[in-house]
Amino acid sequence: MRIIGWGAAMPERVVTNEDLAATLDTSDEWISNRTGIRSRRWGGSTSGLAAEAAGKAIDRAGTDPSTIDLTIVATCSPDMAVPATAVEVQHELGLSGAAVDVNVACSGFVHGLITAAALLDGPMDRIVVAGAETLSRLLDQSDRDTAVLFADGAGAVVVEAGSGTDGGALLASDQGNDPDARHLIRSPIGGPLAMEGRETFRRAVRVLVDSIERTLASTSFTADDVDLVVPHQANLRIIDAAAKCTSIPAERWVSIVADTGNTSAASVPMALAGAADAGRLHDGDLLLLAGFGAGMSWATALIRWDTGATA
Ligand code: ACO
Repeated sequence: MRIIGWGAAMPERVVTNEDLAATLDTSDEWISNRTGIRSRRWGGSTSGLAAEAAGKAIDRAGTDPSTIDLTIVATCSPDMAVPATAVEVQHELGLSGAAVDVNVACSGFVHGLITAAALLDGPMDRIVVAGAETLSRLLDQSDRDTAVLFADGAGAVVVEAGSGTDGGALLASDQGNDPDARHLIRSPIGGPLAMEGRETFRRAVRVLVDSIERTLASTSFTADDVDLVVPHQANLRIIDAAAKCTSIPAERWVSIVADTGNTSAASVPMALAGAADAGRLHDGDLLLLAGFGAGMSWATALIRWDTGATA
């Protein structure tokens, strides 16, 4: 499979650390030092942000909407219980095919992309995969433990069946879940979201590193061969710790968390779109996408980047 288009969307309202410190017992210094977050965006709807990001990805790919076989939206903060958020995206953009949501919290987009790759090996030709969240609606905005961390946004890609060994490919993947850690991050429908931060942090570094190492070990590639890592954007300290443990140099890790906060399933496709737009990806590059989060879930994909632009 190859990723042929990408896009991202964020609500207009910027909420800085100083804005939060005006009403919460917190400070810019604490939030910046502990998380790397400086500001985040709050607002909009999950389906609206998903449609905006998916529309940009489809435009970027130059894809005819009537050739889309499936729309997948990864989200844990849908606007509605039914219909699926993907149905609203399909309606908004005039897409054909099937429409399904997946909820695996912060690892949802990578799970969705791996599923899409399997379907492109089978009956489908073209799939939209988005991650979209409005976590601000699930927050108790007076709870400093979570209000400073979570935020809203969306990212999306268009993937199509690759042309064989020369084209883009999903080279390896690793997916898993540890239900014994399911209590660490929880939200009833409508919120509020609660998290045991310290224990989540400890386990997040472990599952991220282990999953990346298992993915690489199932191939002939090593950490040296990886050109870019796009990890879930939860906390800059998690990214820094994982860079050290995996021996993939820190400059090869994409980090947007300073300006986005933790946007759960949206964070990987948002960071990927930003890296692609900034020219950080070239055809032939080895790209690692790595999600982890509530469940405790994880999903890693090793991809040969090839947009087909030079085909
Ligand atoms: N401002 C000021 N002080 C605070 C704040 C705040 N916003 N929040 C907590 N504190 C205090 C605590 O009360 C505590 O005080 P105490 O020492 O007097 O008890 C102190 O700061 C330290 O708290 P810790 O929780 O130990 O701080 P830590 O360094 O662990 O940072 C954080 C907390 C940022 C939440 C971190 O643990 C983290 O990032 N965890 C992982 C989050 C994550 O990866 N989530 C992934 C998936 S999310 C999903 O799936 C939806």
